[in-house]
Amino acid sequence: MGFIVRSSFLALLFSSVVHVAVAVPAHGKIQRNSPSDDDASILRQWQRELVKRVPNAADDPNWAEHLPCDLSNVVMPQAPVPLPPPSPGSVLAHIVVGRGTQNYTCSEDSAEIIPVANGAIATLYNATCVAANFPELLSLMPKVALQFPPPEPDMEKEKRMPANILYSGHHYFTDSTTPIFDLNTEGYPLGVVAAKKLNGTDAPVGAPKGPAGMGAGSVPWLLLGAKDSTSTPWKEIYRLVTAGGMPPKNCAGQPSVMEVPYSAQYWLYR
Ligand SMILES: *[C@@H]1O[C@H](CO)[C@@H](O)[C@H](O)[C@H]1NC(C)=O
Ligand SMILES: *[C@@H]1O[C@H](CO)[C@@H](O)[C@H](O)[C@H]1NC(C)=O
Ligand SMILES: *[C@@H]1O[C@H](CO)[C@@H](O)[C@H](O)[C@H]1NC(C)=O
Repeated sequence: MGFIVRSSFLALLFSSVVHVAVAVPAHGKIQRNSPSDDDASILRQWQRELVKRVPNAADDPNWAEHLPCDLSNVVMPQAPVPLPPPSPGSVLAHIVVGRGTQNYTCSEDSAEIIPVANGAIATLYNATCVAANFPELLSLMPKVALQFPPPEPDMEKEKRMPANILYSGHHYFTDSTTPIFDLNTEGYPLGVVAAKKLNGTDAPVGAPKGPAGMGAGSVPWLLLGAKDSTSTPWKEIYRLVTAGGMPPKNCAGQPSVMEVPYSAQYWLYR
């Protein structure tokens, strides 16, 4: 399963189900942590359910394509202080899980200075069919993804790796207030959207602090809107169910540039 482990976030979940109690050394230096007992039992439940519905799922990285992927009944998770609803007429059309880093800068090594957000970079994975069929699994994904090293830049471009069908593009910033979602992949040319922040709300209490429970907390949930709605089919993007990504409280003892691991769901409306 080694090559799949490296190429697909979803396959990572599979391997975490199969080897649930084992600390599998990931490629590179970082080792992932086993999910908690609760998470592990949900993952096992999910695996049993999946194998019932798609018997060869473990061998078939395209398994999700064999299930109906109707998003009309999925329910958006809500933060304690909810974000505004999508605008009238917007339709939920794509859900991805992002895994990457939130970047921050510190102008000085000082407790008087607060880290300043400096963009983010993430690889996106197509979770549309997971959302439609296994909402409980979707809700675990950011938390589990945070325990794995982020994908290496070239890996998702190796199109021959079958699991890459699940790769769904990239998220990055062109300036400190402009997040980009490039959703163009071979299988699904879903377009590019340059967004701006419209609203934000704190992640729920108890959201993951960071990899292995170490870190400063989970970044807020956000509502983003297209900067220019004439150049993209996408109207709104919600960042939800965040895991990690918060900077330290101040810049004491911090480097001038920081990358804080995070994962989140992004719900895209057109
Ligand atoms: C964010 O949304 C909430 C809920 O709809 C609203 O009460 C609040 O005023 C909004 N904040 C901003 C900055 O627009
Ligand atoms: C990938 O995304 C597209 C668009 O949302 C969807 O139609 C397709 O079923 C998704 N595939 C998987 C495996 O989730
Ligand atoms: C964030 O850090 C990554 C890794 O060094 C880097 O590739 C990326 O350009 C940085 N992003 C921003 C917006 O500074």
